[in-house]
Amino acid sequence: MAVIGIFDSGSGGLSVLKEVRKVLPGEHYVYYADNAHCPYGEKSQEYIVDRARAITDLLVARGAEVVVVACNTATAAAIATLRAEYGIPFIGMEPAVKPAALGTRSGVIGVLATAGTLSASKYLNTKGRFEDDVRIEERVGRGFVELVESLTLEGPEAERVVRASLVPLLDAGADTIVLGCTHYPFLLPTMQKVAALTPRLSSNQDVRFIDPAPAVARHLLEVMREKGMEETDRDPGVELLASGNDKTLKQLFELI
Ligand code: DGL
Repeated sequence: MAVIGIFDSGSGGLSVLKEVRKVLPGEHYVYYADNAHCPYGEKSQEYIVDRARAITDLLVARGAEVVVVACNTATAAAIATLRAEYGIPFIGMEPAVKPAALGTRSGVIGVLATAGTLSASKYLNTKGRFEDDVRIEERVGRGFVELVESLTLEGPEAERVVRASLVPLLDAGADTIVLGCTHYPFLLPTMQKVAALTPRLSSNQDVRFIDPAPAVARHLLEVMREKGMEETDRDPGVELLASGNDKTLKQLFELI
């Protein structure tokens, strides 16, 4: 029996909820968007740990027995503290450097994430394991979170913002782009359009975008099976909660 808590700085974690519900459709989900404090990307670790504790308390009070930290930035900043302080499992996000490194044909991968994720020791350790084999280029997806939170997923403004961070990675030869922030998959159609319009060295090959959410969903399923937590007696479904205005959250939920 389990109620699954899931949180993000905003609506980005819905891209993870989408994948999780594919593998665990009968569970009861409580999703918390901390959009009154979004973005987390450039906030201090201490600030994010405080928010993560407050949100976990709220999710646990609503019955959560497992929590998905559907935010790369919060995972990097706070998951170790959460695991040490609460007696429940936490499932986190991490930029999918490994599958990108194994799959690249050009030998260059691009990582798009927040400043907080790119400077965290968790990411730096992962990067250290692969950078002898492939070249790793990074960019903060500057303005991406704001686009998603304002529901500007397509159109000239979205393309302009996406181009500024994505094109330098493509120009550096990246054929595989790691989406290291849970907001970014909502911009995938715009990223694909920008990539298709950008001349590249090996222009006969498509750029691949890697979202770790399906792997995270499978990991959650394994953890829940191990602990005998599948099947809740609460109604299957999703409760959507937000610390700020919930308009974007509700509209993006309709899209997943
Ligand atoms: N969605 C988040 C992540 O995966 C955080 C974005 C932000 O608040 O800056 O990193």
